[in-house]
Amino acid sequence: MTTLPPIIEALREAKAIAVLTGAGVSKESGIPTFRDAMEGLWAKYDPAELATPEAFARDPEKVSRWYDERRVRCSAARPNPGHRALADLQAWCGERGKSFTLITQNIDRLHQAAGSHDVIELHGTIWVWRCTLCGDEQEERGGPFERYPPLCACGGFRRPAVVWFGEMLPEQALRRAFDTAEASDLFFSIGTSGLVTPAADLIHIAARRGARTAEINMEPTSITGLTDWAIHAPAGEALPRLAAALV
Ligand code: APR
Repeated sequence: MTTLPPIIEALREAKAIAVLTGAGVSKESGIPTFRDAMEGLWAKYDPAELATPEAFARDPEKVSRWYDERRVRCSAARPNPGHRALADLQAWCGERGKSFTLITQNIDRLHQAAGSHDVIELHGTIWVWRCTLCGDEQEERGGPFERYPPLCACGGFRRPAVVWFGEMLPEQALRRAFDTAEASDLFFSIGTSGLVTPAADLIHIAARRGARTAEINMEPTSITGLTDWAIHAPAGEALPRLAAALV
């Protein structure tokens, strides 16, 4: 496993830094990762069974209730030191004329709450709910809905504006993410198992273009062998150490 100095050196030399984050970055904020054992009421369900348009069509009450429980759980979550360190890294890069782009698979917007800006949200966000009939989108920051599925003023069922298995990713976000990976000379994969495409393709695109690559994750993943450096530790510990070493 890598120590920090070579990654610090690579950051100092890089001109275009790209970061892809996954659920592991929000774990220390109390949000279970997607592949954590499902807890409590939902233990008997496989997320992949709930996070699909077919599941919503089959049982809109169950799917919307599951997502709303996650939304309310996210309401209690605060950015952790890993989120804040990435916001600090973005500022550090900006001060030195380096480009920095944060791409996330997370739907909790904790990166933005920590101060990261211009975040590319590949899988949408749980804070916005969209009418399945008229397409109207509303941000929902309050308590649990009064009924499931919540209804739009037009009478349509509303769903979370997240990307479900089998759905297309938001075109503009995906285009920006591919362009970012292609233009990067240093690519970080942080807190993601690297299992779900097209997000998991980004590090391969960057590496093919000659970028150096680093993984920060609790445990080795399918991409560890590809990376130049790998740190297997909690993001909430490793990222602040990285940010502190840059000042
Ligand atoms: N710090 C760093 N990494 C962590 C931490 C932590 N504190 N806790 C867990 N991890 C790691 C896990 O070891 C795992 O490799 O984070 C990774 C989370 O992987 P997943 O649960 O697969 O989540 P993610 O990679 O974000 O999933 C990608 O798949 O399920 C879909 O749309 C969903 O956005 C999600 C996408």
